[in-house]
Amino acid sequence: MSSRNYNSDDGAVMHGEFMAFVNEDQTLRVMRNWAERQGFPIATVQQGGADMFAQMLESASPPKMVMIDIDDQTDPVAAITRLISLSGSDCKLIVIGSANDVALYRQMLNAGIVDYLVKPLIPENLNQAMAAALRGRSVGKSENKEAKLVIVIGTRGGVGASTIAVNTGWLLAHELKFNCALLDLDLQFGTTSLALDLEPGRGLRDIVNSPQRVDGLMIASSIVPESDQFSVLGAEEAVDEYVPMDSGAITALLKEMMGNFDYIVVDLPKHLLASQKRLLTTAHEIVLVTELSLAGIRDSLRIKTALNSLSCTGNLTVVASRVGQGRTGQVDPAAFEKGAQIKIDLTIPEDHKSVTLAANGGKALGSIARNAAVTKALLALAQKLSGGAKAGAQGKENFLQKLLGSAKKSSVKKEINP
Ligand SMILES: Nc1ncnc2c1ncn2[C@@H]1O[C@H](COP(=O)(O)OP(=O)(O)O)[C@@H](O)[C@H]1O
Ligand SMILES: [Mg+2]
Repeated sequence: MSSRNYNSDDGAVMHGEFMAFVNEDQTLRVMRNWAERQGFPIATVQQGGADMFAQMLESASPPKMVMIDIDDQTDPVAAITRLISLSGSDCKLIVIGSANDVALYRQMLNAGIVDYLVKPLIPENLNQAMAAALRGRSVGKSENKEAKLVIVIGTRGGVGASTIAVNTGWLLAHELKFNCALLDLDLQFGTTSLALDLEPGRGLRDIVNSPQRVDGLMIASSIVPESDQFSVLGAEEAVDEYVPMDSGAITALLKEMMGNFDYIVVDLPKHLLASQKRLLTTAHEIVLVTELSLAGIRDSLRIKTALNSLSCTGNLTVVASRVGQGRTGQVDPAAFEKGAQIKIDLTIPEDHKSVTLAANGGKALGSIARNAAVTKALLALAQKLSGGAKAGAQGKENFLQKLLGSAKKSSVKKEINP
């Protein structure tokens, strides 16, 4: 890598897709390493900050995405506002700075930036910011568009609710091409991150603790992208600690996330049912996962009654899970429906082989067992939840998607051919 500092006097050229303007050496180094790995020429990362970008804009069109260090600015918001008016709305601006200040962050979001990254920079955050730029909207800014909230709840432990939440989310994202987030509200024993071989982010515990602390910056730093279309918010808190959860904070969290995704799938542990009534009443879709057993009959009936008494307006989808010959204590579906006074909408077969393969490989069923009956049943669920809608109109792969593709694990590139 060249140690030469490029500047406009040097004849630096504005790249059509990406540029970064930073101030000090540490940020320069991290940014150049990252840019190089993304396949951008080294000269796309310049030492010079906001002023240099403004200067280059006098004689060149802006790139599609630009990262700006604002530490040298006395009035960062004014500087950013000016840059946005100079560069136009097609140029996505990501700001970098040392100040960890929510008020400043909000002001800059309102000015129209896509994301704000607090130094020191780490490549994961850069990837994430690029994903936000790819989605064409800020990570914290609410838009008119509202995500569909899908809550998955199991009648009993082990019925496969988490497996369904993870894989349905994955299919909504990868197969049906929606922007999807998965929120795992089992902060201690949740398995969604594990199932996708992701390191759970830090911060969800603080978020669910107090509504005052919910903000876009905090969510952005806690959410882990699995790919450009699919992100996971989960935790692995100590098992011997009490983890308090404030229902107001969860509502605030979802409200903050709503503008940024097409679907938010929540894996709701059933012991939270009583404390998360507000969440249930705001859901657009509730997926009740049950096994076909006597206990399943009793608890499906009880949960359905509880949902009715909460006046939940969301659609209820009843999923008979892990159905098959390998399972003991099963009743037949007609007896189940009669006993629970409930109609089974979908059946997910027991498939020990595929589910074990996926679990042990940290991969979604859609990527590792794409033709298995269990995957097809999950795809039918994803389709039902999306109202039979076709792909989320992401259109052709653009440059950012290609780049993200190269940064992603290979598994997420596989497509399902149902
Ligand atoms: N359709 C299925 N076929 C076979 N095993 C399954 C299936 N669904 C889930 N499992 C397995 O059952 C166990 C419990 O699943 P999980 O999704 O964690 O259930 P829950 O969240 O309802 O407690 C896990 O070991 C999982 O791999
Ligand atoms: Mg679970």
